[in-house]
Amino acid sequence: MEANIKKRIEQLTSILNKANYEYYVLDSPTITDQEYDDYYAELVRLEKDYPALKRDDSPTMRVGGEAVSKFEKVRHQKPMLSFDDVFSEEEIVAFDDRIKKVIDNPTYVVEPKMDGLSGSLIYENGLLVRAATRGNGIEGENITMNAKTIKSVPLKLTENISIEVRGEIYMSKSSFIKVNQERKEKNENLFANPRNAAAGSIRQLDSKITARRGLDFMAYSIPNAKDYGIKKQSEVLEFLRKLGFVTNYKWNVVARNVNEIMEAIDRLSSFRESLPYEIDGVVLKVDDIDMEEQIGYTVRVPKWGIAYKFPAKEVLTNLKEIKFTVGRTGKITPNAIFSPVHVSGSLVSKATLHNEDYCLAKDIRIGDTISIRKAGDVIPEVVRVLKERRTGQERRFEMISNCPICHTKIVRNPLEADYYCPNKQCPARKIENIIHFASREAMNIDGMGEAVIEDLYNEGFITSILDIYNIENYQDELANLEGYGSKKINNLQLAIEKSKKNSLEKLLFGLGIRNVGAKMAKILASHFKNIDSLRKATYEELIDLPDVGNIIAQSVIAYFKEEENIRIINGLKEIGVNMDYINDLKIVNNKEFEGKTFVLTGTLTSVTREKASALIESLGGKVSSSVSAKTSCVIVGSDPGSKYEKAKELNIPIWNEEEFLAKISDE
Ligand code: IVH
Repeated sequence: MEANIKKRIEQLTSILNKANYEYYVLDSPTITDQEYDDYYAELVRLEKDYPALKRDDSPTMRVGGEAVSKFEKVRHQKPMLSFDDVFSEEEIVAFDDRIKKVIDNPTYVVEPKMDGLSGSLIYENGLLVRAATRGNGIEGENITMNAKTIKSVPLKLTENISIEVRGEIYMSKSSFIKVNQERKEKNENLFANPRNAAAGSIRQLDSKITARRGLDFMAYSIPNAKDYGIKKQSEVLEFLRKLGFVTNYKWNVVARNVNEIMEAIDRLSSFRESLPYEIDGVVLKVDDIDMEEQIGYTVRVPKWGIAYKFPAKEVLTNLKEIKFTVGRTGKITPNAIFSPVHVSGSLVSKATLHNEDYCLAKDIRIGDTISIRKAGDVIPEVVRVLKERRTGQERRFEMISNCPICHTKIVRNPLEADYYCPNKQCPARKIENIIHFASREAMNIDGMGEAVIEDLYNEGFITSILDIYNIENYQDELANLEGYGSKKINNLQLAIEKSKKNSLEKLLFGLGIRNVGAKMAKILASHFKNIDSLRKATYEELIDLPDVGNIIAQSVIAYFKEEENIRIINGLKEIGVNMDYINDLKIVNNKEFEGKTFVLTGTLTSVTREKASALIESLGGKVSSSVSAKTSCVIVGSDPGSKYEKAKELNIPIWNEEEFLAKISDE
């Protein structure tokens, strides 16, 4: 029996890995998605029932596994170097001249330069045993678990050989857009570009997160190519492809001179935009591997190759002004205000200049010609100051000494690069505080965006978060304001009223306690349950919580020490703002669930298993882990386990996910 199961697991693993290879590498699948899903479900089921028989190359690994606390350092078998960058044809000519001094008639390969981060994969007898980042080139980090989640990383090669393969871990343009879209919805910081997104995703301690980011791997080198009988770079990709790797073989060009190199570069740069991933240039390598060795290395880089970088998508404009803004915490930020220019599809006229040190390092002056680009096609940034274009009329950057809004003297903590306005009553800080309080992740007051808050502040109706809840006192005045119809005012009042019922974590985040983000607010709220217990919490109690470090614990203590903060909290309490943690699920008895025992099996797509269990319990039901005659109903998701079979055997009612959702939807 066991031998049969083992055989079947082997068979399914191999069918699925082959299907993966056909889909990702050959671009020609031979089984349908449905067949793939069915085999996959069968494998999941068998592996669940016989965990000891799960294979190291099982495609079910791709969903990620246990989180780790840190990455182990690993030493590369051969240093992982990178090439020197060049930016012009002249530099390519100079490179060619240097090569020709060592060898006659060199030929080169020109490959797209993938914009990600390099990774090393080690296979033993055809199985992936280790994946590592480049790190400092000598030592990298062991990211095996994470690399296994990347669908274009073969878990098993088509041949049982031992080999190290290197390539680029990257995020496609479509995954990047999707990931940022999700982050935007959650009010999380956006990744500036696909490279940063790939780097951030591959270094997740929880490989399940990496799995969701949709990374890819493009193989391009074999450090010991000669051991496999490979004589030329141009053969490497074909060899890799046969082993099961995705490569860029289609865009590889063998060039015999600088003219042919430049032609290849022009061609690649002309369809750069249409590629599904970002490339930032081309990599140029001497084709003959024996010759590479002859040409050798400097102390830092190989001399047999270079990376030519495309000119960045930059636009020139004129710096008109440096405008200082004040954030919620009082942080002062200099911003470049320039003549509006179109960059990567939109019109931009300002970009952050971060802080004083940044401006001084760039020596940016008002009147300068500056070049702007959009980092990752999202956030505008000043790339360069074109000092050669100066006329002498430019004005040097000068840090302000007083807050641009309330004129209080600003201060700089010697350990930080930022200046702060220390005046808690500074109107700019107050407006930013109100904006933050009303924002979606905080109190979520619909209709109270930046523009409305600025209007209400300027009219003097709302000058602190407490005033939000007294807005009805200004009914008549509001009605007289341009753009404030009765419907808008009414909706605003309803949203304000609704916000009083929010659970504690939204309030905590909204109060703007330093270093307490939305996630931390939830941790604190679910632990302390109400604001008074949190207020009384000692440093030791705080620091004992998961993810609470010294800085957060101190920030929380400091926040509750300030009289003004206590005044606001008491004011909100009086107004009727909820100060308790509301576990969003309260028990409501429902006849479909009340007194019944449920078993969940398989993966539910719209709710997590924990949430589904909590929902059942909140409706008066019980959740059990095994099916027996006492089970009232089995809820079946995708890839169900043996519990599903058992339920059928025992004739127990079965609901699929849709039916389950329909029964709970009323609640
Ligand atoms: S070969 C000695 N081939 O660009 C380095 N690198 O300096 C040999 N890259 O950091 C690398 N696409 O991460 C090679 N087709 C390609 C590449 C490529 C992107 C990256 C690599 C390296 C940098 C080159």
